[in-house]
Amino acid sequence: MCGIVGAVAQRDVSPILLEGLKRLEYRGYDSAGVAVIDENRSLQRTRVQGKVGQLADMLDTNPLDGHIGIAHTRWATHGKPDVKNAHPHICKDTIALVHNGIIENHESLRKQQQQSGFEIHSETDTEVIVNAIYACLDGKDFLQAVFNATEQLEGAYAIGVINVNEPERLIAARKGSPLVIGVGIGEYFIASDVFALLPVTQQFIFLEEGDIADITRDKLIIYDADRRVVDRKINISELSADVADKSGYRHYMLKEIFSQPEAIAASIEGRIHDDKVALDAFGENAEKVFSQVKSVKIVACGTSYHAGLIASYWLEEIADIPCNVEIASEFRYRKSVIQEGTLFVSISQSGETADTLAALYLAKQSGFLSTLAICNVAESSLTRDSDLVFLTNAGPEIGVASTKAFTTQLVGLFLLVVALAKSQDLSEQAESDYVKQLMSLPGRANHILQYKEAIETMASDFSDKHHALFLGRGSLLPVAMEGALKLKEISYIHAEAYAAGELKHGPLALVDADMPVIAVAPNDHLLEKLKSNLQEVRARGGKLYVFADKHSQMDSSEGVQTLQISNEYDYMAPILYTIPLQLLAYYVAVIKGADIDQPRNLAKSVTVE
Ligand code: AGP
Repeated sequence: MCGIVGAVAQRDVSPILLEGLKRLEYRGYDSAGVAVIDENRSLQRTRVQGKVGQLADMLDTNPLDGHIGIAHTRWATHGKPDVKNAHPHICKDTIALVHNGIIENHESLRKQQQQSGFEIHSETDTEVIVNAIYACLDGKDFLQAVFNATEQLEGAYAIGVINVNEPERLIAARKGSPLVIGVGIGEYFIASDVFALLPVTQQFIFLEEGDIADITRDKLIIYDADRRVVDRKINISELSADVADKSGYRHYMLKEIFSQPEAIAASIEGRIHDDKVALDAFGENAEKVFSQVKSVKIVACGTSYHAGLIASYWLEEIADIPCNVEIASEFRYRKSVIQEGTLFVSISQSGETADTLAALYLAKQSGFLSTLAICNVAESSLTRDSDLVFLTNAGPEIGVASTKAFTTQLVGLFLLVVALAKSQDLSEQAESDYVKQLMSLPGRANHILQYKEAIETMASDFSDKHHALFLGRGSLLPVAMEGALKLKEISYIHAEAYAAGELKHGPLALVDADMPVIAVAPNDHLLEKLKSNLQEVRARGGKLYVFADKHSQMDSSEGVQTLQISNEYDYMAPILYTIPLQLLAYYVAVIKGADIDQPRNLAKSVTVE
């Protein structure tokens, strides 16, 4: 999704803006641009369709100097990726603006603006904002113009605006899209997230819904949605500036796959005392809330949704609590019947996913018992606006394809299930058994990573394939779904996942020698059923790739490649069996030469609907 950086300082801000853009690349984008006000009070802008590296090359040849500036990476929503649609957008050589979000009433605003004589230079929804601000200036104060212009906007926005007539003033606003302010010494910055600014500051203010910030080099005034001056807390980030390096790995995704044993350990750490789940891992009020839970509703998107699906198997089996899981973009637009005592759980790596946030805000008005967020970003909108929070502590995830965020979400969800089961009379012995399973995870995850080479070899079979089928049963079905999502996201091979029992109800028609079938087959109560389903595939000439455990009694044979990746079966299977599927997707994408960390058309943080 689009990334914003801005700065007002006593030094030249171009290098800060450029470094910030580089650090936002992981979010996904297709064009980039920067604008500064130079010493002659003139706006200077450079934009490029393509990568920040190309923008940097252009700035090497034609540097932009200025003490105030804004910059942007654009992920196209309205209008194709090209230079004229790239931000910053400028109105009448006076106002320059960068925007993340979607302005829903852009068509009507554009019409009005055209009728009042504005020339339209792009196909974007953003251009109407810069024109609206210019129109509202009309002899008024710059800040007042931004107040008035934003009142006309419907939709979501985070914006940074500069004005040649007030070359020391940067105005920032947020509604529905994230924006942070970096606090320096005699300088201020804005950005879509903290990573962008880590080289220049560790101090951050997270703007809240409806906030507008009036920023000069030595003064910051924040107005809330009612236009009252407010104090917002300064947070000190513990992240270091080099948090986003690849540590010798070829891609962030590979680094993140291999960091899962530590990430999982970090998400367990401090959450278990004396073989018991510490309820305060979910917030101060958790014990009281959990004792009243009669059912659970989980809402999320993409990979996080798959984590929710797995949790629903655990919840009903271990805690005897009914659980329903729904995609956030569906939940937010339909009428749901909410039973008394239902806990609303949202899951999100970023905590800024627009649909998940909208679902949370709807849930808060809908009579749920309480809201709980499982999230990887401490200061995200989701964590700030939920009653209870479990932080997954996976560390920053940069690769667009989610890996360690998923497995640590599952850790959080398993802890939640055990915590809820405790309020349903779970025995101490059972709790201690579950805790032991969880504690065994880092070591077992490490063991599976050692199959890296075997999986890399397996991946070479997929290089000429256009489709793949993933099969699983029970709590391993969402694992198959996650495996299919990973493969399509980064290798662009079309992949589908099915409950293996569903094969004969349709998808079996697709199976032939060109359709590799990947199955996750732990030694669980459904193994024999799964084996029969796999026979149906073999009988049609389909080639099988099976991830099993030592006791699954499945060996490689003609047309069947089996990797026995695990020594035993327990509730940790969905977490462990995810890892080989991540590696498979990764190595297939490497062979296909795909842009693994920033797959085409995708963004890391989906902050627009
Ligand atoms: C995962 O590989 C994807 N990039 C995507 O499905 C992601 O999980 C989804 O957009 C939800 O993001 P979130 O967890 O940050 O809310």
